[in-house]
Amino acid sequence: MSNKIILTNKIILNRLYRLILPYKYQFMVAMFAALIVAALSGAQAYMVKPLLDKIFVEKSTYFLHILPFALVAIFAVKGFFYGLNFYLLEKIGQTVIRDMRVKVFEHIHLQSLSFFHKTPTGELISRVISDINLMQVAITTVVVGLLRDFLQVIFLLIVIFYMNWKLALLSIVFIPAAAIPIVKFGRAFRRIGTKMQEETAEVSNIMHESITGAPVVKAFTMEQYESKRFSSQVRELFETIMENAKYRRIQHPLMEVIGGIGMALIIWFGGKEVIAGNSTPGTFFAFLAALVMIYEPIKAVSKINPTVQQGLAASVRVFGLLDQKPEIISKPDASVLTPFQDTIVLQELQFSYDGKNPVLKDINLTVPAGEILAIVGPSGSGKSTLASLIPRFFDIEKGSLLIDGVDIRDITIKSLRDQIAIVTQQTILFNDTIRDNISYGDQNKSEKDIRKAADAAYALNFIDALPEGFDTVIGESGIRLSGGERQRLSIARAILKNAPILVLDEATSSLDTESEREVQKALENLMKDRTTFVIAHRLSTIKNADRIIVIKDGRIVEEGSHDDLLSLEGEYETLYNMQYHD
Ligand SMILES: Nc1ncnc2c1ncn2[C@@H]1O[C@H](COP(=O)(O)OP(=O)(O)OP(=O)(O)O)[C@@H](O)[C@H]1O
Ligand SMILES: [Mg+2]
Repeated sequence: MSNKIILTNKIILNRLYRLILPYKYQFMVAMFAALIVAALSGAQAYMVKPLLDKIFVEKSTYFLHILPFALVAIFAVKGFFYGLNFYLLEKIGQTVIRDMRVKVFEHIHLQSLSFFHKTPTGELISRVISDINLMQVAITTVVVGLLRDFLQVIFLLIVIFYMNWKLALLSIVFIPAAAIPIVKFGRAFRRIGTKMQEETAEVSNIMHESITGAPVVKAFTMEQYESKRFSSQVRELFETIMENAKYRRIQHPLMEVIGGIGMALIIWFGGKEVIAGNSTPGTFFAFLAALVMIYEPIKAVSKINPTVQQGLAASVRVFGLLDQKPEIISKPDASVLTPFQDTIVLQELQFSYDGKNPVLKDINLTVPAGEILAIVGPSGSGKSTLASLIPRFFDIEKGSLLIDGVDIRDITIKSLRDQIAIVTQQTILFNDTIRDNISYGDQNKSEKDIRKAADAAYALNFIDALPEGFDTVIGESGIRLSGGERQRLSIARAILKNAPILVLDEATSSLDTESEREVQKALENLMKDRTTFVIAHRLSTIKNADRIIVIKDGRIVEEGSHDDLLSLEGEYETLYNMQYHD
């Protein structure tokens, strides 16, 4: 999936920020809670001073009676606000992610068919599941963790500067030093993060492909081959993860050592002040406590650095997908197609999948309303391609395709496709009940209509024979049905749609002669008063057609009725003799 827009950190953060923007009030409450947590953390550190100076050195019972209670109160209040902050930020993060998943899903389905031909399924699944997960972890850790820690550091800095500004200056000299490894390792984590996600997508691709292809894997006893392919991909992912661990292994201890050096300096200089009598032990230990608390969040930053970088890498992938403009969209000023009544005209039409090699050339065709047009031709000649242009699954390269005189690019996609019922060459069914598969396009259809459609498609007998009838769940892609049963369901679905234009691509190819004859009758009923494009390799279908066109190498080479074409003794006759001889 190529993407030309370069997403810099600034752009990504800006986009993430805009995702959070709608929740700004909740966010402000969360931040207020964080502020209180931070202030109380400062107070906790500061309390070490009276603890040591008043209780341990001066032995004051007054403070002994006060301090423990104050401490409990501080913990309780801090705990409450901590919980509030945590819950609100978690909620914001999760809400953003929930909406993001839906948005990406919707965006994927806005894409044209060619997008699905180019993008492996596993890749898309991986973006919606795994990448968005990483984004969520990053958002929640950043927002939940970092902002709270940042405030805490500020308050603790106030405490140490208040107590001894010279020592404070000395101890924060090390904070910028701590930033260096964070930035340096950040780049590595980012690069590895991208690689990890790409490899995760590849793992999910292999999973998807081998599972959906299980019958072929078994038939060719390729289980071991698939396992090897999978394990080698998983091994690559493992190595990338270990590379990540390698950097983490160095980064964290490095931060500890830097923190340790800072601490050592404080003990050295602070200790000297106490020995010289310029400072109390209470000040010293309170200072040390605050400092430990300051270093804690900074070390935490280094710990979550990989997570954040991975999240940013994942964001690039998710935003990249969201930035993919659908190739086929309704124009802003597109009109709504009125019920089809006149003609479908293809003029000088040319089409290619790759922009280079035309699959259809010089197609000129006028189909009046009510006509049954049969399309025949050798395999790979472009029949299915031609059929897929009518619902605008792809945009044509040259020429035009007009319905009732209007270019289909000037009408809304919905109003165009609403008028077309399609039975595709590969029957496409969902892992749902028979009822829901038949009424897929319109869930409001009545039980009676669904039964009628099933009856017209000669599917009622086998459906009623099933123990659960219309409630039978048919498995992924209808795997629990026979090929012919699947075809009859997709015909029933087309019948129920009751659209004026019908596109039937080898709709009866999986049926035996007996059921074919029956379905043929159903299709005849269906075709009455409709305009039909029927791609067929059975003579019976073709004989019913008003007109036949023969496509060869993407061109219409012959056209006419069955008898006309036979008398030409050309392409059709050859095809007829080879394929259609019953
Ligand atoms: N999604 C695609 N991307 C690129 N090329 C394609 C795509 N689909 C089909 N083709 C190519 O376009 C040509 C026409 O294919 P099409 O499916 O229209 O043939 P057909 O006449 O329906 O054949 P069949 O009788 O076997 O179904 C073929 O050469 C095929 O390889
Ligand atoms: Mg085909």
